[in-house]
Amino acid sequence: MHAVVLDHEVDWQGFRRAARLLALRRIPPEHVVWSVRELDDLFGEPVAELPADNSSAEGAFRVPRGLVQLAQTVIQAREPARFSLLYGLIWRVVSGARHLMEQITDPEVDRANRLAKSVRRDTHKMRAFLRFRSVQDEDVVRHIGWFEPQHFIVEANADFFVRRFAGMTWLILTPYRCAHWNGQDLAFTDGARLEDVPKDDRIADYWQVYFASIFNPARLKISAMTSEMPRKYWKNLPEAALIPALIAGSAVRTQKMIEEPTVSPAKPTLRVFRPVDPVPNSPLSQARVAASQCRRCALHGPATQTVFGEGPIDAAIMLVGEQAGDHEDLDGRPFVGPAGQLLDKALAEAGLDRSQLYVTNAVKHFKFELRGKRRIHGKPDISEIDACRWWLDIERAQVAPRMTVLLGATAGRAVLGRAVAVLKERGMPLRLARGMAVQTVHPSYLLRLPENADKAREYKLFVDDLKVAASMAGPISGSSFKQER
Ligand code: URA
Repeated sequence: MHAVVLDHEVDWQGFRRAARLLALRRIPPEHVVWSVRELDDLFGEPVAELPADNSSAEGAFRVPRGLVQLAQTVIQAREPARFSLLYGLIWRVVSGARHLMEQITDPEVDRANRLAKSVRRDTHKMRAFLRFRSVQDEDVVRHIGWFEPQHFIVEANADFFVRRFAGMTWLILTPYRCAHWNGQDLAFTDGARLEDVPKDDRIADYWQVYFASIFNPARLKISAMTSEMPRKYWKNLPEAALIPALIAGSAVRTQKMIEEPTVSPAKPTLRVFRPVDPVPNSPLSQARVAASQCRRCALHGPATQTVFGEGPIDAAIMLVGEQAGDHEDLDGRPFVGPAGQLLDKALAEAGLDRSQLYVTNAVKHFKFELRGKRRIHGKPDISEIDACRWWLDIERAQVAPRMTVLLGATAGRAVLGRAVAVLKERGMPLRLARGMAVQTVHPSYLLRLPENADKAREYKLFVDDLKVAASMAGPISGSSFKQER
C-alpha cells in the first residue's frame, strides 16, 4: 500500500506530482491511500518518499486537457474520496481508455462531472454573494468579507477578487481558509470564525440601496429568486433584510405601475426648472448620499468631495465623462469648468438642452498631482474606473437612459467594459444591454488641440456625434433639472 499525504486540501501540484509518479510506476489506484496533512498528519509516508521521479527515462505520458481541467475543478470539492477518484480516472486513461472522458454515463466520469458542477456552482455563488464590510483600521480602510463556501474554492477564486477589487485592501474570511490582498500581494492563512468579522459596517447600506434599485416588482418570481439566491446565503447578505418587505409590497407596486399613465412624447421643454432631487429618497438619491462617503479606492483621500451625477431621473440621454476636474471637485457638480462650458455650447448646437440630460462621470473623485499650488489632472487607472463603476451602474440602472453618450476613452471603458479606440469608433450607435450608446471624444481633447483649424474641425465632428446621439434617443420628454446652489 502506498500513502500519499498532500500538503493541503487543494494541493494541485502535490496531487499532480504524486499521480504522475504512481502512474509511471504502474501502481493501481486500489494500492494508494490519499490524505491531506492538515487533517491527518499520521497517515504514512509522504509522496516525496516514493522512489525518485525518473519519468523522462521511462517515458512520460499525457492525459487529455479536458481531464486536467476537470481534475483542477474536482480537487476543490469537499469530498474526501476526490483524490482517489481522480487518480482512478488518470489510471484508466493511461492504461488505454483514451476516450474515457467522453463516456459520460461511466459511473466514475459521472461522479467527477457532478462534483465539478457543484464546485462551479459554489464558485458562482461566492462571486455573486460575497459582501465586503468596510472597516477603518488606523488610517487605512479595509474591506472584510465573510463567506461559507460549500467546497474548497477560496484559493482558486482569489485571483478573480484581486482583478475585481484590485484597488482595495481586502480580506476574505471563510471557515477553512482566508485570503488577504494588500493592493500588491495575495496571501492565504488558516480559516476564521464568523465572530472574527468586525461589525463596523458602512458598505452594507450600499448593497441595500443597490438591491432596492434593481428590484422590479412586476418581474418578481419568488422561486427563481430563491433558486438564484438560495436562502442559506441570506444571513450574510445585507440586502436580504429588504427581501420580505419588497416581496410584500410588490403586488401594490405592480398595480401602481400598471395604473400610472404612460408619458407620451412631448415637445422638448426648455428650462423648466425642478428641485434638485426630483424623487426624494429614491434609490438614486440614497446612492448619492452613500457615494459621498465612498472609500472604494484611494482617490477619496486627496479629493475635496464626491462629484455624483445630476439631472432628471427619467432623462432619455445620459452623458458620461471621465472624472471630476479641479472646478468640479470644488463645486461638487459635474462639468462646470472649461470642459463643461464647451460641452454646454456643443450640446446647444446639437439641439440638446443640458437641463434635460443626466450628466455624470466614470470616476467620481478628482485625481490629481500637486505641482506647487496647482492640482494637475491625472488619468484614472483601470482599478479606479472599476471601483467607481459601482456608482455608475446604479445611476444607469436608475435612470435607464435610451442613449448614453461616452465622452472619451475612460467613459467608453467604464460603460463598454473594454478599451475603446475613440477616433475609430466615434459617432457609431452601439447597442447596450439596455439602450444604446454613442462614443465620442472628450471636450477637453478639443481644448488641448493647439491649432485653431484643428479645433474648429474637431468641434464640428463632436457636435455631429451629439446630433447622432440626439436623433437615436428619440423624443426628449420628461422632467427638466435645475441644480440650486
Ligand atoms: N472632465 C470630465 O470628464 N468631467 C467633468 O466633470 C469635468 C471635466
